[in-house]
Amino acid sequence: MRTAIYPGSFDPLTNGHLDVIERAAKLFDRVIVAVAHNEEKKALFTVAQRLALMQHSLRGMKTVRATAFEGLLVDFACKQKACAIIRGLRAVSDFEFEFQMALMNRRLEGRIETIFMMPRDTYTFVSSRLVKEIAKLGGDVRAFVPAHVNVALAKQLRARRD
Ligand code: PNS
Repeated sequence: MRTAIYPGSFDPLTNGHLDVIERAAKLFDRVIVAVAHNEEKKALFTVAQRLALMQHSLRGMKTVRATAFEGLLVDFACKQKACAIIRGLRAVSDFEFEFQMALMNRRLEGRIETIFMMPRDTYTFVSSRLVKEIAKLGGDVRAFVPAHVNVALAKQLRARRD
């Protein structure tokens, strides 16, 4: 049983994330999407909301499940008996930070490999940060996120404004 962890903030998840999950699911017996409590990043959605949005998108994907995690990623990965961490790479600009994180995780736990996967080229410019910025400014993000995320974004931003 080969298990991979796909960690991230997913604030909110995008079609690019889902594309990476689908690719990872073809390579591994089990994929665990790990929604991080990231204290350094100020999130628009709570962890519970991000997790619920992710779980909604994963319905029907039998070998993929989502959960929240706290603490060191490699500790979580070991607990889940995972052999790999999946990270999406969109552009060279992602590489420097991802490379540093991958090598640090390897130093912390040598048994877990980081695997970089590229989303479909139409998603290489999509990021949660830009999606939030566009949505905040009244732009249309329907091409970049699942429909239920689009609805949740509008609701969350309205609640923030009121
Ligand atoms: O979607 P993001 O925000 O790029 O995901 C970053 C994430 C959650 C994968 C990273 O911050 C992380 O692994 N956090 C857990 C804490 C940890 O293990 N830090 C050491 C990384 S070398």
